[in-house]
Amino acid sequence: MKQMIIEGNHILTGDILIGGAKNSAVALIPASILANGISTITNVPNISDRDALIDILEILNCKINLNNDELKIDTSSLKNALIDEEHSKKLRASYYFMGALLGKEKYVEMYIPGGCNIGARPIDIHLDGFKALGAQVITENNKYILKADKLIGTDIYLRFQSVGATVNLMLASVLAEGTTIIHNAAKEAEIINIADYLISMGAQITGAGTETITISGVKKLHGGHIQVLPDRIEAGTYIILGALIGQNLKIKNIIPKHLEALTSKLKDMGSNIKINKDNILISRVANLKPTNIKTLVYPGFPTDIGQPMSVLLTQANGTSLFEETIWENRMGHVPSLNKMGANIKVKGLTSMIIGPSQLKGCEVTATDLRGGAALVLAGLTASGTTTINDVEHILRGYENIEEKLTQVGAKIKIKEI
Ligand code: EPZ
Repeated sequence: MKQMIIEGNHILTGDILIGGAKNSAVALIPASILANGISTITNVPNISDRDALIDILEILNCKINLNNDELKIDTSSLKNALIDEEHSKKLRASYYFMGALLGKEKYVEMYIPGGCNIGARPIDIHLDGFKALGAQVITENNKYILKADKLIGTDIYLRFQSVGATVNLMLASVLAEGTTIIHNAAKEAEIINIADYLISMGAQITGAGTETITISGVKKLHGGHIQVLPDRIEAGTYIILGALIGQNLKIKNIIPKHLEALTSKLKDMGSNIKINKDNILISRVANLKPTNIKTLVYPGFPTDIGQPMSVLLTQANGTSLFEETIWENRMGHVPSLNKMGANIKVKGLTSMIIGPSQLKGCEVTATDLRGGAALVLAGLTASGTTTINDVEHILRGYENIEEKLTQVGAKIKIKEI
């Protein structure tokens, strides 16, 4: 088990360089299966989810070459194989092998995907879409078998704008016969990045980033090339950190447009924030105003930044309301924040955060990725020493977090216990 020790209350200043987006990279890596030949992905974040997906590509006999942030995937010796329970369960995004293998091989055998414990996380919308394309879905205990003689393009309406289902159905349909139209598709920036990768392989896709995506099936795809877009959630987490304890903290290599829901809230709260072309400069201010936040699908306030944002709300002067609408269980960090001195009352999917609270370091445990990131922000703001257990959750999605924060003046260490 890994533990993070933070000595808090040091002003953070300097530059934090944002890496490639986790939620894009975790789809781009499996998507490579669809190409015949060698594909290249650059700006790949150095996170444990990347390694878990590379392990699965190796089970499928792909040749991998990872050189810093550049990943080359050679599928010329691809052999379809069972993705065992241990590998399927390591992360949520293992489910992208469903769409990619179904599209390429018309056969997939894998177990229920894992991931953060933030809700029930059903995949019924993905499976219904695969069935609409002509696949048969067999479930045996925890195992899925998906198979088809051929996949035929069709109109698919998603009953929720699911990111995962939108991506999985793009993956499954690029090699299908005829045209697939995904209605009520998710519009996240990551979807455009993934569509661009498939287009670089020769796929025919229009409308990614809107509610209607049209995919005209092609017979074959060649090797592709893509740069992973900047991680708006990593960026958002560090921007909030700047509002908590930064002095001219510069968050670099970002696309400010992807962060507008967050930055407009920060402006409403009275933060000292300057938005430039590809970076944001932020410093803490004494009198933050409280606010109300409701998470929504893109371009609304991102659920993945909600937990870090709740730490900032503990420092505002007054009562804020925070409502989560995507996941049923995104309040796992609240008992730890309250142990550190916050005043947060949870009722169902809403929390009432009464600020300002003086946070004090103590021993806490990360229960999930973004909840863990929230505890890091709280620890860096608090007086005294904070010890965070189960840091593995955080390392799934924040690359080189210890180095990035140390560089701007944080006193932070990760140790194996
Ligand atoms: C992606 O999850 C992200 N994960 C999540 O990031 C993110 O919170 C989420 O999108 C929303 O933005 C990855 O990209 C790997 P959804 P995903 O399908 O695709 C329900 C993080 O912290 N639903 O858009 O799994 C579902 O239960 C992670 O980085 C169904 O009911 O999310 C949820 O309530 C966590 N049936 C809602 O839709 C389905 O078949 C949104 O899920 C699929 C989803």
